Amino acid sequence: MNDFPLFPESASSVAPLVDGLYLALVAITGSVSLLIWIVIFYFAIKYRRRPDNELAQEQEPPAALEMTWIVLPTIIFMGIFVAGAVVFFRMSRTPANAIEVYATGRQWMWKFQHASGQREINALHVPVGRPVKITLASEDVIHSLWFPAFRVKTDVLPNRFRTMWFEATKTGRYHIFCAEYCGTMHSGMIGWVEVMEPVEYQRWLAGGSEGSLASQGEKLFEKYACNTCHTNTSGARGPNLAGLFGKTRQLTNGSQVVADENYIRESILNPQAKIAAGFQPLMPTFQGQVNEDDLIRLLAYVRTIGVDQPVSTPVESAQSAQQSSGAPTTTGATTSTAPAATTGATGTQPAATTTNQ
Ligand code: CUA
Repeated sequence: MNDFPLFPESASSVAPLVDGLYLALVAITGSVSLLIWIVIFYFAIKYRRRPDNELAQEQEPPAALEMTWIVLPTIIFMGIFVAGAVVFFRMSRTPANAIEVYATGRQWMWKFQHASGQREINALHVPVGRPVKITLASEDVIHSLWFPAFRVKTDVLPNRFRTMWFEATKTGRYHIFCAEYCGTMHSGMIGWVEVMEPVEYQRWLAGGSEGSLASQGEKLFEKYACNTCHTNTSGARGPNLAGLFGKTRQLTNGSQVVADENYIRESILNPQAKIAAGFQPLMPTFQGQVNEDDLIRLLAYVRTIGVDQPVSTPVESAQSAQQSSGAPTTTGATTSTAPAATTGATGTQPAATTTNQ
C-alpha cells in the first residue's frame, strides 16, 4: 500500500485502522453501486415495454426478499458504525504515558514546544513507538494540524486548548500540513515531523534549551505575581494549586469542574468565570498580558505543582513508562525498541537530568 500514490505513508498505530475502515467503506459502497447498476440493466432489458397494449401487473414482493433488504443493510450499517466507533475511541483516548508536546498555530507557521523546553518551528521531533500528546492553541484564526502519515488531524482553535495524540511506528520524515484554510499563506503552513529512534531522540533533547517549560512557567508565575495569592499554603488569598491538575473542584455556585487545560486557561484569562468554593473573586484578568506561549508555560508549571516527580522531561517519562510497563498494553513496536531505549537511557540519564535543573 505504501507504493500506491493515493495513500500517504502509513506510520502510526492508528493508521492501519483508519485505512482498513476506509477501504472497507470503499469496498462496500463500490459493490453496492455495482450491484445497483447490474440490476438496472437487467431490469431495463427484462421488463422493457413489449406490445403497446400490454399492461403492467402489480405484484406483492415476496416477504423473504423484503426481509433481506431490511435486515442485510441494517447489519452492514451497524457494522460500519461499530467499526467506526472503535477507531474513533482509539483515536480520542490519549494513553496515560504519552509525551507532552505543545503546538501553537499562527498565520502562518507551526510552533512546537517540548516539556524539556526545546522549541521548534515547522518541525517536530518525536521518538518512535511512544505515544505523543499534543496540546494545541491558536494565536489568531482556526488552523488544523494534520499528520497524513499518522492519519490524525485536529482543528486548532483560538481561545481554547485542544489535544490530539499519535504513536509513530516507523522512523522517518513525514509531512505536517495545515488542513484548514487560514489565509493567503495557508498552503505554506507546512513542516516536517522527524520520527527518531529513542536513543537519537534523547540525544536531540539533550541539546540546549532555556530550561524546562515548567521552570519557564514558574518564572512567569513569579513575574505576574501569581505567587503572591497562590502561595499554595492554607489561608492564602488564592486557591492552593498543588496537585490541582486533573482533579474535580467545587465552585462557589455549587457546581463542579475538572481542572483541565481549558479550566486553567479560563482561570488565567477570565478568572471571574469560575470561582473556587471558599474564595473571593479577587483575581484580575490577564487577558492581553499573557500570550499563547506564556499560557502554555504557565499550564506546564501548574501541572507540576505539588506533583511528586517534579518536572519530568519526556526522556524521564519515557524511561519510567518503559520500566513500569512491560505490560501487554504496549504495542509490538514499543516492546521491540525497549531494550535500545533502556541502554541509551542509562547512558544519557545524567546529561538529561542536568539540563533539567
Ligand atoms: Cu493554518 Cu491553514
